[in-house]
Amino acid sequence: MIIKGKEFEIYIRAAEIQAKVKELSLSVSKDYKDKNPLFVVVLNGAFMFAADLMKEVNIPSEISFIKLSSYRNTTSTGKVKEPLGLSEDIFDRHLVFIEDIVDTGLTVSYILKKCKPLKPASVAFISLLYKPKSMIDAFPIRYVGFEIPPDFVVGYGLDYAGYGRNLKDIYRLKP
Ligand code: IMP
Repeated sequence: MIIKGKEFEIYIRAAEIQAKVKELSLSVSKDYKDKNPLFVVVLNGAFMFAADLMKEVNIPSEISFIKLSSYRNTTSTGKVKEPLGLSEDIFDRHLVFIEDIVDTGLTVSYILKKCKPLKPASVAFISLLYKPKSMIDAFPIRYVGFEIPPDFVVGYGLDYAGYGRNLKDIYRLKP
């Protein structure tokens, strides 16, 4: 598969992704039963994963969205009114952030830093993909779909230069 001039090969097929997503939904539903969690989707990359995941979550919960890149810009201008860009009050709430991939871990640390002063009851992360070798800031990711080597991947929400998000399988850059 060629995306924007680069060659990618199939890596994780849709059926395997779907089976994993179901498994993750069931464990999070079990763990957060009676906790009324607030799921926070980290855009853009997590949109497809989050949609599939949330369809299988079978407990009372709310879903919200943040877009970190624009949020970082907003922060730097000092005009942010809602830290993290959430309109919900997160005080004493159980937060579960939904990520497409944890790579360096910078996004995770950023979210944690911004959350802490707002005193949520708990914070956890679900990430479809996890590149443990590239983690610079150790924070345990509670729910991980697939641990992968530090290859560049695309599809199922993840992009290469803006393209490939719509693919239902995950591909990796050919060496
Ligand atoms: P981190 O802050 O380095 O953990 O990176 C997280 C973000 O980088 C993810 O939410 C993705 O948007 C992007 N990213 C990291 N690795 C890849 C990849 O292999 N393909 C596409 N996007 C990636």
